[in-house]
Amino acid sequence: MGCARDAGVPRRPQKRTGRTAIDQAHADTQSMTLRDPSVTSPERPASTGSAGVVRLSKNALGAIGPRRGGLVLLSLLSLLTGLLETTLLYFVARMAVSVADPTSRIDIQLGPLRFVTLSPGEVTSIAGLVLLVLLLLAWPSATLAGRLSAATLLRARTRIVSAYLDSPWACRASDPEGRIQEIAGHHCRQVEILVQQFTFIVTAGFAILVIGLGAVLVAPLLALVSLACLMGLAALLRPLSRQVRKRAAKSTAVDLSFTSRVAQLARLSQEVAAFDVPKPVAAELASHSAEVAHALSRLRLFGRLVPSLFQYLAIGFVLAMIVVVTNLNPTSVASVGATTLLLIRALAYGRLIQSATHMGNELSPYAEALESEIARLRSNTRDRRGVSISSFRRLELRSVTFEYVPGKPVLRDVNVTIGDRDVIGVVGRSGGGKTTLIQLLIGLHVPTSGNIVVSGQSGGRDVSDVSLQQVAPADWAKMAAFVPQENKLIRASVAGNIRFYRAGITSEDIERAAKLANLHDEIMELLHGYETEVGPGARDLSGGQRQRLGIARALAGKPKLLILDEPTSALDHKSEALVRASLDRLRGEMAILIVAHRPATLELCERRFSVEHGMLRELVTHDPAQLIVPNA
Ligand SMILES: Nc1ncnc2c1ncn2[C@@H]1O[C@H](COP(=O)(O)OP(=O)(O)O)[C@@H](O)[C@H]1O
Ligand SMILES: [Mg+2]
Repeated sequence: MGCARDAGVPRRPQKRTGRTAIDQAHADTQSMTLRDPSVTSPERPASTGSAGVVRLSKNALGAIGPRRGGLVLLSLLSLLTGLLETTLLYFVARMAVSVADPTSRIDIQLGPLRFVTLSPGEVTSIAGLVLLVLLLLAWPSATLAGRLSAATLLRARTRIVSAYLDSPWACRASDPEGRIQEIAGHHCRQVEILVQQFTFIVTAGFAILVIGLGAVLVAPLLALVSLACLMGLAALLRPLSRQVRKRAAKSTAVDLSFTSRVAQLARLSQEVAAFDVPKPVAAELASHSAEVAHALSRLRLFGRLVPSLFQYLAIGFVLAMIVVVTNLNPTSVASVGATTLLLIRALAYGRLIQSATHMGNELSPYAEALESEIARLRSNTRDRRGVSISSFRRLELRSVTFEYVPGKPVLRDVNVTIGDRDVIGVVGRSGGGKTTLIQLLIGLHVPTSGNIVVSGQSGGRDVSDVSLQQVAPADWAKMAAFVPQENKLIRASVAGNIRFYRAGITSEDIERAAKLANLHDEIMELLHGYETEVGPGARDLSGGQRQRLGIARALAGKPKLLILDEPTSALDHKSEALVRASLDRLRGEMAILIVAHRPATLELCERRFSVEHGMLRELVTHDPAQLIVPNA
């Protein structure tokens, strides 16, 4: 079997090296949450404050990926900005002290060292110039940050979508509804915001570094003691930060569960109206909504509380320090003024870092969930290479057994050979394994035991008994075409729906297929013929037309084996007759396998089988009426 999920044992992302035990435990909890959104309270193990920042940075850097040049440039710009801001604030403080006497000279000094003495006019001019440069620098900083965000979002979405599409279908067939929409949509957006927060932290961090250094140079004692107090304060608030991370994980899980419910509602909107059950459905959604709201309110409470507490307590500390220092040394008023101004600016940056860190901690689970989902999908990536097959002579199932759940075979020891012109009918009770059999034949599932082998031509020479798993998936998709029980439309023209993304299919192929499927005349009656827009949000087609469009879609690629899963079960007699007529026309052109339960459809078939309790049995009766299986 190609995918661990089928067995009900989700495969873990395989790369564990370089992770701490906490990281792994968290990743495991998180991936479990994603696999089963009904798990609504995944209490994440709490980590230390620095582990939170490390995790946040690791997640953000992981999301940015190889294009980190922008981040380096942004950091350099922040250093420059910090330097200019320090100069500006220092000059402003010195100007403020000398404002009482405009004729006075202003000493530019660091601690006891005096560098130059300037007039107030000169200081004002320099400050104005610095301010201008600061204003000019705001533009490249913002541009760089914006580009980094956009590139992150694009990269996250491209990675998850390609991992999803490259994974075997069986791996995602039992995903909860709305899961990929939620991850590619909301999760990726949250990861982009995480990177945005990370850039705030990096830029504010560099600015604080320079400004703090400036404050230390101007008034060493006051600055050092104040900075030490601020660090102590941050350490004191760590338990609260931990709460934020814990609440964030819970909120992410509850969100995913809610989205899955909404996706279900969207899919069943017709049934909800038909059974007139909007109230109970709304009540169920409201209770999930309330859970989301509750988780969010706790998260926001802690998220807002911590930065505010930090800010006000920090200002209190700085004030206390000023009182102490000015009492000890009354002549240092000028440098204390400059240092205070610098410290308050550093505090503003500190607050920015605080709130960005909290927000980042809230968003970290999204990045981890995204990575763990990509790892899960990639650990099952299909090998797209393989033996190239250009025509098929025979397809053989040899002792094929298939289990979704280990120990519970859905199909047992199936042996059958399909020749290149055979028309085969399969009947059986609902749940007997007919669709599963089809999914094995088109390569969506891999037998748990036994083998499916193909004989045909490869590169102009005959090959025999090539395992289906070894055949290049693209070749097999061309060879064996499939018409599902319920054909789904994409939002595109009728021609686009028949082509279904396959670039090699020409307009002539499309028209020929539509004629074979008995659909051409009805298409020509549409307002814009083959160019008429159909699908979700555009005009719909009737069930019979949709089904024949499914047949045209399958035939457009000129397959050698056509497989139909109960193609007429939901159709009226007239539509069924049209489908049957088109299948009749194909007889002798290709091999056809039809899962059906209507005797009329089975009349077409030369060989008939029944699937009972997972066993395939050839039927010898020639009276199709006897083939009707109750509840089929
Ligand atoms: N993804 C799946 N995971 C687990 N069991 C499944 C899955 N798909 C189908 N089954 C089970 O396998 C059995 C055969 O299903 P299916 O092949 O769809 O039957 P049929 O097409 O004959 O009605 C059923 O019991 C069904 O519940
Ligand atoms: Mg079925």
